Amino acid sequence: MKLWGGRFKEGTNALLDQFNASIGFDYKLFAEDIEGSIAHGKMMCKIGVLTEEELAQIITGLRTLQGEIEAGTAPLTLENEDIHMNIEALLVEKIGPLGKKLHTGRSRNDQVALDFRLYTMRKTETIMAKITVLLETLYEIAGSGVEVIMPGYTHLQRAQPVRLAFHMMAYFQMFKRDYARFADALERMDVLPLGSGAMSGVNYPTDRMYLKELLGFSEVSDNAMDAVSDRDFAIEFQSAASILMMHLSRFSEELILWSSTEFKFIEISDQFTTGSSIMPQKKNPDAAELVRGKTGRVYGNLMALLTVMKGLPLAYNKDMQEDKEGLFDTVETVEICLDIFSEMLKDTEFLADNMRKAVEKGFLNATDLADYLVHKGLSFRDCHAIAGKITAYCIEKDSTIEALSLEELKQFSEAFEADVYAAIDIETVIENKASYGSTSRKSVLESLEKANAFLKTL
Ligand code: ARG
Repeated sequence: MKLWGGRFKEGTNALLDQFNASIGFDYKLFAEDIEGSIAHGKMMCKIGVLTEEELAQIITGLRTLQGEIEAGTAPLTLENEDIHMNIEALLVEKIGPLGKKLHTGRSRNDQVALDFRLYTMRKTETIMAKITVLLETLYEIAGSGVEVIMPGYTHLQRAQPVRLAFHMMAYFQMFKRDYARFADALERMDVLPLGSGAMSGVNYPTDRMYLKELLGFSEVSDNAMDAVSDRDFAIEFQSAASILMMHLSRFSEELILWSSTEFKFIEISDQFTTGSSIMPQKKNPDAAELVRGKTGRVYGNLMALLTVMKGLPLAYNKDMQEDKEGLFDTVETVEICLDIFSEMLKDTEFLADNMRKAVEKGFLNATDLADYLVHKGLSFRDCHAIAGKITAYCIEKDSTIEALSLEELKQFSEAFEADVYAAIDIETVIENKASYGSTSRKSVLESLEKANAFLKTL
């Protein structure tokens, strides 16, 4: 008979058994389930529902079981539906009828809310640690790329010269926000739902403050109905994960472009590239492509859970069992993507000479040419037009602006003087960026210092 089978005359249809069971995936929550059960047992002992002797037996039983599940020797069955009932049934097998006492003052609803929340909290911490590794990696690369000059792009057209460090630090900011998003979600997650019962509280003078301490939560939920039906933490986690993947995907796209023959800005190591089965010359950036591709499933998991939760009446509904697989998949995906990405970056060579050469083509100093004329007293609109005409002239002549003679420049404006060459020199162009947060050496060094201070707080 099912653990809940008291009021049933007939057994369930085998199809429903299969359909209803979540043990196929929620076995992943076994450690959290056992931890929650031990805390619940201790609390029930504290309020006199279990004796010390009974508690000791229950804890020993649960710990033995934990070892067996870890070793893969515990017989988890579909008949027992989910990890919560499997553990309970196995405990009864192990320590006898006493095992049945453990569920006093508890519902599977507050039990699963606790387990899933604890799991998500732990994974949030793991992911934050992995983001830290990525931030440190980026900081290193940026640190050695202060003097490396490359084209910055808008519309994927060469726009203005920047330092490699500056480009890398743009990603640093993105992942720093990701870290903060997970940290923020974690703070809101950190609320104990256990002790809420099925939905309205429990008929025992449970000590939820004690449970909170045992399980290391910062707060206790204020409303039992909300506690058992809230999955915001899983949604927030998946939103943060989706934004993180979006960032990783954008970065991947750049690495893929940069490793192409067209760019040749980087060389991803053999370890993180693969060959083609037919074209011997190929070296493909599969790792970056997979990270970009896997972003799709992480978005999908977020959308799935938002859709599951949409329109659910309070409190617990079985629909909510669908909260887990997507989150598990997101956890696995994000973990491996972060690991791969940091390792791949560490193993990537940045081809400074090619980056520098790319700056020479594309008239990246045209804006500065216009600004030069502004300093000579012309209006910016006129200067923009003059610089545009000079660019067109250069394209026709297959020249660069700095290669034109002063006489040629003077054909476009009398305001040009010999000092124009210094003004449009790439180094000058970069160093003229005077605004806070710019690509000038001073700004980049400042941002590196700030990043270093931030990393020390992690
Ligand atoms: N396996 C269920 C889930 O994941 C546990 C909660 C079941 N509660 C219930 N009242 N049937 O959501």
